[in-house]
Amino acid sequence: MKLAITGKGGVGKTTLTSLLAYHYAAQAGAVLAIDADPSPCLGAALGFPPGLLQSLTPIAEMHELVAERTDSKPGTFGGYFKLNPRVEDIPDRYTVTHRGITLLELGAVEHGGSGCICPESVLLKQLVSHILLRRNEVVLLDMYAGVEHLGRATAEAVDAMIMVVEPTARSIATAAQIKSLAADIGLKHLFLVGSKIQTPEDAQYVSAHSPGLPVLGHMPHSPHAQTADRLGQAVYDAAPELARAAHAIADAVEVAMKAVIQTADHG
Ligand SMILES: Nc1ncnc2c1ncn2[C@@H]1O[C@H](COP(=O)(O)OP(=O)(O)OP(=O)(O)O)[C@@H](O)[C@H]1O
Ligand SMILES: [Mg+2]
Repeated sequence: MKLAITGKGGVGKTTLTSLLAYHYAAQAGAVLAIDADPSPCLGAALGFPPGLLQSLTPIAEMHELVAERTDSKPGTFGGYFKLNPRVEDIPDRYTVTHRGITLLELGAVEHGGSGCICPESVLLKQLVSHILLRRNEVVLLDMYAGVEHLGRATAEAVDAMIMVVEPTARSIATAAQIKSLAADIGLKHLFLVGSKIQTPEDAQYVSAHSPGLPVLGHMPHSPHAQTADRLGQAVYDAAPELARAAHAIADAVEVAMKAVIQTADHG
């Protein structure tokens, strides 16, 4: 299973990714969780020990690695560099693992202008492609808003993209925008998950205003999410109601994917 999680800022993407990571670690054994946020925080939501997280450097900030793999000069824009850097060893070498979950932080790419191709972005794209196309473990991609790091070549390898939405008009408007970006690169299986749901009306709002996407389930609003953050605990451990919601969402993904495969077989 290869899942991408996206949505508007602050809706609960990282929280859901961390919960799904523990779900799949218990079920499948090995999970690779990719933090694509320029300021990484998936490790904290996973409750990884601070010392372990400190030992991890986001890939885009490993300037010597970027320079070596792309044959570029560190920290420069322009000039010549390789467009197909070697990345195969990165998921095993430049990651940390805790309780069956391997964490990879992509880090921030300083864009030299819109549409700029720089060594860092080439390396990250190649790395994400490699992971989606060649690795066998469950992969979860906690995406910064939108579909950055994914392209036409890799969209096919993503089994499903989950858009997390709060029961607000703005959050749902962002999901609709991401839906059209996702369609542009050929992502096919898109789903919605409601987040910070407090009342049946909240859940109803999400279903009623979905931009044509099936709703997989809902994450209740939980004070434990913030307690976990303050105490440095895994949300999965601190918020059992959210862990249960994530199990149900993972089951719903499976059912939805099976339905898709059956339809494809019969069509
Ligand atoms: N179900 C929930 N109930 C209550 N608070 C929540 C819930 N889910 C997330 N939060 C809180 O909302 C904030 C944002 O959550 P999270 O970091 O998961 O969102 P995000 O979409 O990844 O944000 P960003 O766009 O900044 O990466 C955090 O303070 C988190 O504790
Ligand atoms: Mg996040």
